Amino acid sequence: MQLKPQEEEILQQLDRRRIPAHLAIIMDGNGRWARERGLPRSVGHRQGVETVRQTVRFCDYLGLKALTLFAFSTENWSRPAAEIDFLMGLPEQYLQTELPELVKNNVRVNLLGDPERLPAQVQKAIDEGLSATKKNSGMALNFALNYGARAEIIRAVQALAGDLQRGKIELPIDEKLFDSYLDTAGLPDPDLLIRTGGEYRISNFLLWQVAYSELWFTPVYWPDFNRQHLLRAIADFQQRERRYGRISPK
Ligand code: IPE
Ligand code: IPE
Ligand code: MG
Repeated sequence: MQLKPQEEEILQQLDRRRIPAHLAIIMDGNGRWARERGLPRSVGHRQGVETVRQTVRFCDYLGLKALTLFAFSTENWSRPAAEIDFLMGLPEQYLQTELPELVKNNVRVNLLGDPERLPAQVQKAIDEGLSATKKNSGMALNFALNYGARAEIIRAVQALAGDLQRGKIELPIDEKLFDSYLDTAGLPDPDLLIRTGGEYRISNFLLWQVAYSELWFTPVYWPDFNRQHLLRAIADFQQRERRYGRISPK
């Protein structure tokens, strides 16, 4: 990958053994990016897809084990129908152009969120992405679509209660068992959570899984988010001491 000199410089300073294994991103600010340019919100979303392409490639290059992108929340159904329609066309467009490269790069596509409410063409595109990459063992690329953490937790509780009733599992229920019922089953918790777009909130994303994630907020709108921003976030992450309740050994 051809990097710019400034990017090379930050990359050289990183500890390559301490790249976050799992990065989660709340991709926010597409609408405001467009509005500031006097353009319709859809142009911001389209540009946001370009950032997704670049980010996925770069995370794979950096050797991340998992990248989770918040693309559409359970709350986003409250937006105008035309915007929802536009957004629902994007997964298909993205996968159409990127799937061959994802397959080649050994990336495995996953869906977080309830597929039921997604339009048929989105379900179909995602299913194709899932089946084309299911044998891949490289980076897990998780798209959170129609995802809400509370809805995910409730779905997990329902599935777990059903399995208890049928005698498939036994009490007691511990964290590990509960974890295996979440959409993120089998994935490590995010080490780093990035939110672009200047808001300081979680907006119902991965509430269970971010219990001990490092958080990084930036005012940069998602369409403007680039490799240098990502490298800076990782550099900042590497300066942090993850104490998990313990005291510092230093
Ligand atoms: C993020 O950008 C994309 C989605 C939530 C789908 P927004 O559309 O929320 O952009 P802003 O926050 O209005 O700028
Ligand atoms: C969060 O962004 C959801 C996604 C990035 C998909 P929003 O723009 O929907 O968040 P709020 O409503 O400002 O909290
Ligand atoms: Mg927003």
